[in-house]
Amino acid sequence: MENSSGNRGGLMNSTQADNVTMSGGGLYSLATKGAKDVIDLATPRVIEAVNSMDLSASASRFTMADVGCADGGTSLDMVREVLTEVQNKAPGCQCTVVYCDQTANDFNALIDIVHGRTRFSSWLSDMPNAYSLVSGSSFYLQAVPDASLDLVFSATAMHWLSRKPCDLNDHVHVVGASNEEYRAFADHARQDWETILLCRARELRPGGRMVLVNFCRDPQGRYLGNTGGVNMFDTLRDIWKEFLVSGKITEQEYRTMTLPQYYNTVEEFTAPLQDPANPVYQAGLRLEDIETRIVPCPFARQYAVDGNPEQFADGLIPTIRSWNQSIFRAGLSARRSRQDKDAIIEQYYTTYRNKVLEDPRGHGMDYVHAYMTISRI
Ligand SMILES: C[S@@+](CC[C@H](N)C(=O)[O-])C[C@H]1O[C@@H](n2cnc3c(N)ncnc32)[C@H](O)[C@@H]1O
Repeated sequence: MENSSGNRGGLMNSTQADNVTMSGGGLYSLATKGAKDVIDLATPRVIEAVNSMDLSASASRFTMADVGCADGGTSLDMVREVLTEVQNKAPGCQCTVVYCDQTANDFNALIDIVHGRTRFSSWLSDMPNAYSLVSGSSFYLQAVPDASLDLVFSATAMHWLSRKPCDLNDHVHVVGASNEEYRAFADHARQDWETILLCRARELRPGGRMVLVNFCRDPQGRYLGNTGGVNMFDTLRDIWKEFLVSGKITEQEYRTMTLPQYYNTVEEFTAPLQDPANPVYQAGLRLEDIETRIVPCPFARQYAVDGNPEQFADGLIPTIRSWNQSIFRAGLSARRSRQDKDAIIEQYYTTYRNKVLEDPRGHGMDYVHAYMTISRI
């Protein structure tokens, strides 16, 4: 999809892929305990980034952004720790958190969560001199004025491409593609990654820091839902294939079920930050540190303890569903009725659930991330 309202800062035309929405109404944070674990694991790195920046004891303002924040629930504790650290270093400092996500995000859920109107405990209600703002700007655009951020944080978001470079013939995800299809995704993802970094380079003040936690393919070739057991993406593909073979969906729909995502390797993340000829390097961004980490699927871990397959499936399937249902639903023909689409989608995830119940061994969604700290000179 090309968004004609884009191209602020002359950086690009398209700003977000179609139909990328997480579950709304606060369900995202309820369903994604693993995503919170990923952020909690990043928190010491974020605190270290704050401590390494030139924040003086007399600093009067500190502004951070949480980019691709969804409903904000998973980062509440991290934000609280960061602002506490800042206010300990610079007593009285006025802190602002800019929550950024794409226009289709459920911003009502975000506001409810951040303003403490849900069961989540929010930093906003119990910290002095702390404020929140919300931006519906895609991370493919500059969201705030030049040099206005001290810190950028983002978790589990930047694998969403600005658009789908092509439909895949026989898979839902580029991890299962090869040759030209794979190259089309890799080329497009390289440009997208540079665009994201260039936008952030403008937003960050000199001396500022970024902590980005992104899905990756690690040096052992592992990625989300593929760490040695049943490959989650193959399962997602296999079920659509069963639906195709049994005539539930058409060939065209099968091909359209392509997720607009890409998981960079460490080399792909690193390249623009280390090549002096690259515009990202020239914009002043420098890689301080990168490491890959696996956060185990919390539901598979619980299953290993209690051996309860129902509980396992009831945790795992909503987590998987929370981030791909909107794409798959949009892949169904526009000629279908809403009820028809709803029924197919329900059947789809019920089929996945039944597969887990039949033989839970090896199922799960381990998270594989690259944790990066980047500075702006
Ligand atoms: C899996 S959620 C991660 C939410 C949260 N950061 C976490 O780690 O729990 C991915 C988020 O990225 C957002 N996203 C996807 N494409 C985006 C874009 N182009 N600009 C801004 N946000 C985007 C989605 O709307 C979604 O809220």
